[in-house]
Formats: sequence, C-alpha cells, structure tokens
Amino acid sequence: MTPAKPFRSRDWFADPVRSDMTALYLERFMNYGVTPEELRSGRPIIGIAQSGSDLSPCNRIHIDLARRVRDGIRDAGGIPLEFPTHPIFENCRRPTAALDRNLSYMTLVEILYGYPIDAVVLTTGCDKTTPAGVMAASTVDIPAIVLSGGPMLDGWHEGDLVGSGTVIWRSRRKLAAGEIDEEEFLSRATDSAPSAGHCNTMGTASTMNAVAEALGLSLTGCAAIPAPYRERGQMAYLTGRRIVEMAYEDLTPSKILTRDAFLNAIRTVSAIGGSSNAQPHIMAMARHAGVDLAPTDLTEHGHKLPLLVNMQPAGKYLGERFHRAGGVPAAMWELLNQGLLAGDCLTVTGRTIAENLEGRETRDREMIRPYADPLMADAGFLGLSGNLFDFAIMKTSVISPAFRQRYLERPGMEGVFEARAIVFDGSDDYHHRINDPALQIDEDCMLVIRGSGPIGWPGSAEVVNMQPPDHLVRRGVQALPTLGDGRQSGTSDSPSILNVSPESAVGGGLAWLRTGDIIRVDLNRGRCDALVEPAEIARRQAEVPPPIPPSHTPWEEIFREKTGQLANGGVMDMAVKYRGIARQTPRH
Ligand code: FES
Ligand code: MG
Repeated sequence: MTPAKPFRSRDWFADPVRSDMTALYLERFMNYGVTPEELRSGRPIIGIAQSGSDLSPCNRIHIDLARRVRDGIRDAGGIPLEFPTHPIFENCRRPTAALDRNLSYMTLVEILYGYPIDAVVLTTGCDKTTPAGVMAASTVDIPAIVLSGGPMLDGWHEGDLVGSGTVIWRSRRKLAAGEIDEEEFLSRATDSAPSAGHCNTMGTASTMNAVAEALGLSLTGCAAIPAPYRERGQMAYLTGRRIVEMAYEDLTPSKILTRDAFLNAIRTVSAIGGSSNAQPHIMAMARHAGVDLAPTDLTEHGHKLPLLVNMQPAGKYLGERFHRAGGVPAAMWELLNQGLLAGDCLTVTGRTIAENLEGRETRDREMIRPYADPLMADAGFLGLSGNLFDFAIMKTSVISPAFRQRYLERPGMEGVFEARAIVFDGSDDYHHRINDPALQIDEDCMLVIRGSGPIGWPGSAEVVNMQPPDHLVRRGVQALPTLGDGRQSGTSDSPSILNVSPESAVGGGLAWLRTGDIIRVDLNRGRCDALVEPAEIARRQAEVPPPIPPSHTPWEEIFREKTGQLANGGVMDMAVKYRGIARQTPRH
C-alpha cells in the first residue's frame, strides 16, 4: 500500500540528512519489542491516547481495551505507540474537572505534534475526555478515530433501575424529605455503578460519545456498547484496524468535521435527550475545527425536535437497553428517515452517514420511539437572553409535568412566569443559607447562583441544579426554577437556566442582581429579565462586584487569562487559530 501522503514519522526515522538523529530516535523504542527495522519500514505509527488510569476510573476499561486496539493496529500493518493523556475524573477533581478539558487538550496537542505519530486512536469515556481529544485532533489534523470505553452495566437497587448521577440527585431529595437515611443513600449510589465503564445514564459521557459518533468520528455503533460487553473488545480491535487504513488514506478530521456534521450532532443530542454540557463542548469542538457555528445554532437547529430515546434522566431506561435497541445509529436512523440529517457527511468508516445507517432501524420501540410518536415534542435546548445575560440554555426534555403545571401552564400566562430571586455567591453560600428561614423561600422563588462560570469558579462548576430548601422538599416540591452562570451535571433532571454568558465574574448581569428582585421568564420569546429599572441597574453596576476566590495553581491563573465564556465553548480563544499544524513537522 502506498500512503496518500508520506507519513510524517519518516521525518524522524528516515531522515536522509541527519542519520545520527535517526539513530538517537530509534534506540529507546527498541526496549519493548519495536524493532528498528519496523520503525524504518515506512509503516504508519499509530498513537493510542490512553485516557484511562487509576485517577480516571470511568475510562479505566481502556487499559484492557488498548491490547485489542494494538492487535488491530498490528494486524493491519501499523505500529502502535501508547501514551497517557492528562487524567480527567468528573466527580472527583476539585475545584472542577472543567479545568481539565482545556489542559488535556493542550497537552495532547503537544504530544501529537511533537512526536512521530501518523494517526491516533482517541480513547474516550468520562465527560470531557471526548471533546478534549476531538479538539486536539482538529488542531493537529492527523487521521483520528474515537473509541469510547462504553457505559457501565445498568444499575439495579431493590428491583428498580438506578442510573449514574440521576440516582444521586433523586436520593438527595428523599434524604432531605426524611424518606431515606444516609446508609440507604450510599447503597443506592453504589448500586448504580455495578461495573467498569462511564455513567450509564444519558449524562455528559454518553452524550459526548454519541456526539463523536454523530460527527462521524467513531465506527458505527461504537458509542453505546457497554464497557464489559464482548462487542466492546471487538469494537476496539476493529477501531485499531481501521485507523491504519485511515492513516494510508490520510482521512483527517478536517475532512469529516463540517458544519453539516455539527448540525447532525446537534439534532442527535435533542433526540437522545443529551446533556446540557453538549452545548459548550460542541461549540468548543466546532471552533477548534474552524467550523462556523454560532451559539444560537444549537438552539435553532436543536430545539424543535422530539425526544426519542427513553433513557434517564429524561426517560426511564439505561445504557444496556439503549445499546440492545440499536444505540446511536438507531436514534440517528429516525432523524435521517425524516430528512433531518445530512446523509452525505463523510465518516471515519470511509462511507457516509447515510451508508452507515442503512438497516439500523430499532426493533425496541419502547426504548427508541418512532419520530411520529415521541416521548416529548420540542425537546432540545431552548436558548434564552435578556437584561441579565446574552445567552443561556434550558434543557426542556427534563421539565417534569409538576414543574410544567406550576410554572408554565398558568391560565393566560402559558410559558411565562415571574419569581423572586434568591441569590447565592457560589455553592458554599448556597449550602450555608438554603435552609435559612430568614430567606422565606417559597414556590414563587427562583434560586440563582453566580461566581460559578469559567472565570469565577474557576473552570465553571456543575452547581446550578440547586435543590429547594428541606421544608419545601418535605412538602413535595421537587424543583424550584434555578438560574446560574455555572453548568449542571448531564445526569440531572433539573430544568435549570444555565451556562449563563457572560458570567458575573466578567461583569455579566448576575453581578448586579439582588435577592428580592423579580425575574420574568418568557419561554415563548426566549427571554429572561430582571424587572429592575435601568437607572437602578447602572447604580448597582458602580458598586463593588461580588467576590471570587483567588487562583490557587499556575494553571488556574493561565486558564482565567485565556479562557472565554460558555456560550462560545469555554475554549482558550488564542488556541483556535492553530489548525492543521502537523502539515509541517517540527524541527530537530
Ligand atoms: Fe465519569 Fe460520569 S463521572 S462518566
Ligand atoms: Mg458532569
């Protein structure tokens, strides 16, 4: 086979001018079975970007899967070189894993650019590992393929399905209402995590792996295979085989990641009831790919679509059943069949989306609903703006019937409600004061959190899904309207208004909002405004802004200097100009 373009690794291992350097590059790799002959043979060197480690338990399955990937690479004639990526563990990393997406992105760029790697397998799983890898692949633009590790098996607790994260939010309310004790809380949480894998709900991990597949970056059906299943290992092997072919074909991300591919991904997120974190991550990947995507594209192209996949938190089931029902291809098949996907987008299979989806209709209509009979209409993200912010989203697929009735269906005021703001400066303030009787929180209140965006936190925290005070939960009030400049977990069933941009820490409107102000939300017009006179707003803007903590690490300081707002993906704005950098190999 002749490669479409000479492999860049030849610059290291077959340099006609500097044979002394070639010898130096070769000698250390020989320690573990790669021979100089192989490295000089002109076969492609395939990186395996290993995202699993003891610190990244959601991706730990990749430590085993990498062996299958290597087998596939070798069998197809490539040479595998595995290396670690910066760990990201959503639940454990303080002050937030959101600091790590851009860090993992940046370090992966340096590796892919600075080492003799011709193509790469991106191992993904936990939330931000997918966008970090895709962002880096675009910057470097060498052939890249996404291998998701897959979700955990379904969790069961006393005969009920318990899903990652979702069980935590729901059990917290039961704990607050006095219905369960701490021991029961812990047992529900551990039962939701029965095996290796990432979150088994349609949280951010499953959403972002579905997005990678919808973009055309994974082999068909890859995203949803549970981590421990036999098919997962086979998928790893096939992914290894395919990336070698892609190296020969020079099938790079820039040939796959078009605007149409991103619109396909946006529509898929709506149909699967995907995480609200898809909004910044899709924007981030598009910006690094150089694709012209506006924040409003997500709401314009995604909102008026129905929810088809019956998976927690918007629906009932978990990852195993989703996979058995056909997974992402079956959900996409419904959209394609309605003419709602661009079928001609090229994918890593070397074929188009339409070709990949042929014959993928589901046979489980309880899990994946027909387009004409969905779980919910208009299920994508609703975009909002107003005098408090330029951009925020609301995940409409998780609006409960009770919430809808209480706030959105008052006769004569459909889709419109007003609420008294209760403003918290970060989550510590929320936890200290939420049960303070002096705040007199009732059902006509809206809980607001600020200081939780990319610059304020820093990183942007998953804190907007604030629970009502205990006395309301005990009365059966499961959710109050919430608003904030942070994010929320993709596993949360709270219909929050979140990802508010600009955030309070950079002078956004939440900075001047006061407890007691009335906020008017109009979902029909996509508006959210504080009913405060302009003169009063100006007066407050001249006052001292709300406090934010100092940076505690060098990276926090760099992150704050370089990172933009969630509306635009929270990327390092200076980084998006670097694209296709592997076209030129670095000097000796
Ligand atoms: Fe890692 Fe959910 S916490 S996948
Ligand atoms: Mg999360």
